[in-house]
This record gives sequence, structure tokens and C-alpha cells, in this order.
Amino acid sequence: MDRFEIEGGVPLAGTVNVSGAKNAALPILAASLLADGPCRLEGVPDLRDIRTMLRILEELGVESTREEDGAITTRVVDPTRVRAPYELVKTMRASICVLGPLVGRRGRAEVSFPGGCVIGPRPVDLHLLGLEALGVEITVDAGYITAEGDGLRGGGELYLGGPYGPTVTGTANVLSAAVLAPGTTIIQSAACEPEVVDLARFLVAMGARIEGIGGPTLVVHGVERLHGTRWRVIPDRIEAGTLACAAAMTGGDVTLLGADPAAMTAPLTLLSRMGVSVERGAEGALRIRGGLRTRPADVVTLPYPGFPTDLQAQFMALLCVANGNSFVTEKIYPERFIHVAELQRMGAHLRKEGPTVIVQGVERLSGCHVMASDLRASAALVVAGLAASGRTTVERVYHIDRGYERIEEKLMRLGARIERHTGVAVEADAALPS
Ligand code: EPU
Repeated sequence: MDRFEIEGGVPLAGTVNVSGAKNAALPILAASLLADGPCRLEGVPDLRDIRTMLRILEELGVESTREEDGAITTRVVDPTRVRAPYELVKTMRASICVLGPLVGRRGRAEVSFPGGCVIGPRPVDLHLLGLEALGVEITVDAGYITAEGDGLRGGGELYLGGPYGPTVTGTANVLSAAVLAPGTTIIQSAACEPEVVDLARFLVAMGARIEGIGGPTLVVHGVERLHGTRWRVIPDRIEAGTLACAAAMTGGDVTLLGADPAAMTAPLTLLSRMGVSVERGAEGALRIRGGLRTRPADVVTLPYPGFPTDLQAQFMALLCVANGNSFVTEKIYPERFIHVAELQRMGAHLRKEGPTVIVQGVERLSGCHVMASDLRASAALVVAGLAASGRTTVERVYHIDRGYERIEEKLMRLGARIERHTGVAVEADAALPS
């Protein structure tokens, strides 16, 4: 298993390109199952999760090729296949995104039930209720969700809100099924995340009829078929936010190219309030300049346009060295605090009280051995390591590879001293605490 060795304390400087958004690309790739012709998808990042989705699509009779210019072309070659197996689904929860497109287009889906994960329980009840409201019959047996829906019925109103707000991939699933359901479907409490907007626009480019895109009420007029199309995936606001945290925490001066600042109002506003200089330039350029220790802040994660849970850990790393006490409250995944113990090992003063962590800023973190445990927690450890004194070893970076495209290369180009070491013996790794 790979690890990163980071010599911290170097202010990051220079320019870096933002990659396409993983969480937009995954449901869009899944929705290519709906198309009667080939889809050309540009800006799809080259990530472990994307490769997993392509393997699932292959199981489902969709051929894909990565073109020389980086675009991915998908083409349905066998529309009879409907099973997404456990071996693949267990490695990535977002595999559930094929459920809606499969049952919408092929009338049947068999998708392994995705389990829990380290960021807390992650049920899919809202996905299933939403599909049932479209006339899909759901059964769960032997670890698989079977969805049957030959002749979906639109024409109804359905509600997708849950205890923690709307569901992002649940909205993607229901929307992807509703576009082919006859009649008009009204989806209430739809997620408004930019990634859902991107999916909806992609569906429209394929011939779907959807009103209210970007808002909580989506009105879908079912169409008979969808055609192939060409689409460019939006920039990754979470990658951009992570790089912004790294720039701020190292006291650096970094320009992010090709970002989408309009989708990042909450995190960028927070950075400004903390005293980080945020300048917006032309064509999505974002210049982030850190300096002295930042001011503390009150961070509360919320559905979009609120502060994203996927940046909570990275901002907590930054607040660990703020000049005062901060509060970080998690309202989407109240248990998403696995990074806390690792940041404490680096010298952070953190106290968890229910879904809130009180962060008492210290002058500096110190490098040590830390363990990556999920995608964003790992990113936070890298950000912390870049700013810490001494050497930080981040184990199990395969978590980061799920969602960040060649992160160490991007950071190295900004002057970071970070190296990937491959192939630590499995026995040695197993001996580390998990
Ligand atoms: N929820 C339910 N029932 C459901 C679905 C969700 O109770 O049927 C709850 C969840 O347990 C959670 C909340 O609703 O408390 C929101 O979950 P949501 O369904 O919106 O999350 P998701 O669609 O599974 C996506 C992203 C996550 C991101 C969340 C929240 C993808 C592939 N994943 O997950 O991204 O944290 O939305 O914004 O889009 C990541 O990239 O690191 C990541 C975890």
C-alpha cells in the first residue's frame, strides 16, 4: 500500500489546474446507460472511483474508451445486463448511482446493497422510496436490491427529503429514472448541489425535459428515449477547496485555474472571514493567499449552498492552527470525525462534543505517522502535513486516490515536498492500528 512522506513547512506557490468533479462524473457516467447513442464525456478525472464505475458499466454492457485527449466515450453494447455485483459495489458506495438509470431504461436492476462506511451509516431508503413512487417494485434479497419497473409511471409528486436534508445520489437516481417515465413527475426536496445540476443538464443535453434545475423542486416531463451527447463535467469544488486550504495553511500564494467560484461561495466566504486573501480572476481563476495565523471560525456543514461536508475535515485542519477557538459542527454525517484522532496525534487541540468539535488553535502542528481512513479525512491529513513542522507520513493513501487526481504531482508543482512511496508490506500495514 502506498504512503506519502511529507516534509512540512513550505509555503505553496504557483498555479494549478482544477480537475473535473468526481461526484458529478460518477452519476453522469451512470446516466450514460440511458442513452441510445454514444456519449462523449470531457473533464472526467482519472481516479480510482471513476475506474470502478467504468468496470461496473462494463458489467452492465457499456463499453468505454479513454480517448487521447482524455475524454471518455461510452457506448451501450449489451442492454440485457442488469446486475452490479457486490465485488465492485463494496469498493464504492456511489455504485448505487446505476440503480435509477438501469431500472429507468432496462426495466430491471440488481444492485448489491452498499454497506456502511467509516463516515457513518449511509442508508439508501430515500432512493428506494423515490423509485417506488415512480412505480418501481423493490425487493431486497441476499444482499441485493432488485428493482423492477417495466413501464414506470410518472405523473406523481414525490418527496426526497430525509433527516439530514435532501439526498444527493438519491436525487440523481430518481431523476435518472423519472426522465423516461411517462407523464410529469414532480420531485420535491431535490438536492441542489452543483453536481446534481450538472447531471440534470447532461440529461437535458440527451433530450430529457426537466424544469427547475438548481432548485429544490424538479419538474420532469417523461420522454420516450434519450440520445447520446457530448458533455464537459464541472470543475471539482472539493478539490479546489482542499487546495485552497493547503495554500492558506502553509501561508502560500496559489492560483487555482479552471475552478468554479460560483459553486464555492460558502467555503470561499469562510476563508475570507478567516483572513485569507481570496481573489477571483477571469475564467474561474482563484488566487488564495495565506499569511499569518488565520482567525478562528464557526463551521456548520449543510446541504448546498451551505458549507459542504466534503470540506469539513480540511477546514478543521486549517482551524487547528487558527488564532483562537473554533467550532466545527457536522450536520450531514454527525459521525464524520475520523480525522480528529489523527490531527490530535499531530498536536491539535480538539474536543468532540456530539456532532461538534471544539478546536483550540495552536501555533503549529508537528509531523508524525498518521493513518488515512477515508477520502476527505486523508486529504485533511495531507493539508496538515504540508503545514506541520518536520516529517509527516500518511499511510493508506489509496483513500486519497479514490477522489484526487495525482494530488502529489499537483502539490509538488506548487513546491511541496511530498513523495509517494509504493508497496509497503501488507503485514507491516496490518500491524498498524485501524
Ligand atoms: N440519507 C438517508 N437516506 C438515504 C440517503 C441519505 O438518510 O436514502 C442521509 C445520509 O445518511 C446523510 C444525508 O442523508 O446523512 C446526506 O446523504 P446523501 O445521500 O446526500 O449522500 P450521498 O449521495 O451518499 C454524496 C457524495 C458524498 C457527499 C454527500 C453529501 C457522491 C458520490 N457522494 O453522497 O461525497 O459527502 O453527497 O454532500 O456524490 C466524498 O466525495 O467524499 C463523499 C462522501
